[in-house]
Amino acid sequence: MEKMTGVALVTGANRGIGFEVCRQLGQRGLRVLVSARDIAEGARATATLREEGLDVGFEPLDVTSEESIHQLTDRLARQELRLAALVNNAGVALDGFNAEVAERTLAVNFFGALNLTERLLPLMADHGRIVMVSSGLGVLEGLAPALRQRIDPPASKEAVCDFVRSFVEDVRAGQHEARGWPSSAYRVSKLGLNALTRVLADELRPRSLLVNAVTPGWVKTRMGGERASRGVQEGADTLTWAATLPPGGPTGGFFRDRQAIAW
Ligand SMILES: NC(=O)c1ccc[n+]([C@@H]2O[C@H](COP(=O)([O-])OP(=O)(O)OC[C@H]3O[C@@H](n4cnc5c(N)ncnc54)[C@H](OP(=O)(O)O)[C@@H]3O)[C@@H](O)[C@H]2O)c1
Repeated sequence: MEKMTGVALVTGANRGIGFEVCRQLGQRGLRVLVSARDIAEGARATATLREEGLDVGFEPLDVTSEESIHQLTDRLARQELRLAALVNNAGVALDGFNAEVAERTLAVNFFGALNLTERLLPLMADHGRIVMVSSGLGVLEGLAPALRQRIDPPASKEAVCDFVRSFVEDVRAGQHEARGWPSSAYRVSKLGLNALTRVLADELRPRSLLVNAVTPGWVKTRMGGERASRGVQEGADTLTWAATLPPGGPTGGFFRDRQAIAW
């Protein structure tokens, strides 16, 4: 395996797929910043990887907190650190369905990734990679045509933000079914994340940053459950691949098992 240099940051890295991505990136030679919202859990995960001989550090980070994002970016900026990779992995799949669930889901899965990425852009190294951890549920197929035309292709970041916000408003007003929305906040969050990936990839092409969405498949984690078909090693593989793409590699794509798939 070719060794790499540089620093990678992974969100939601205390367990599940995020933790395994940290391990795989560390094994590729990168220094890895394990981030987690729970300090004890994050420190425990970091210690485990350190015992494996990997070069890892811990950064507290709740992606839904502006303050937490601000503190992180401040700490990294003071170290004059440049990120070779950012893996937006933190995610939730909450039980139930109502406007509050929709809002909380989007706060982590969509706005968390957007806000963190925007704040970290000045700290991304040339040819850095940004990985959006999406889902097969984020595909456009089956989406009502009137909704699809709002994000395919996505006109701008604002248009994508308006799209997901209007979902919450429609759920709150009891109109989401009439407007053709799926009854899944998780699905809409990943649809939004995919659309955001396309916009960011275009925006960041002049900086040679590679921005891609990846689905890990159905993976045995707390979220995926025991019946899932894949282990974390297999689930994390394409995320690690997208976080270590060579300069000039693909950007603005959606990948599963290292292969491009349809939005
Ligand atoms: N497992 C699957 O089958 C599957 C399939 C498709 C896509 N995915 C995606 O893969 C990613 C990882 O999922 P997973 O299966 O590894 O799930 P998981 O085991 O439930 O892990 C989710 C991680 O996200 C963290 N997180 C949640 N809210 C956060 C916040 N506000 N700030 C920072 N971290 C936060 C969790 O931290 P806490 O421990 O503090 O809760 C945890 O570390 C998610 O984006 C998920 O949507 C998973």
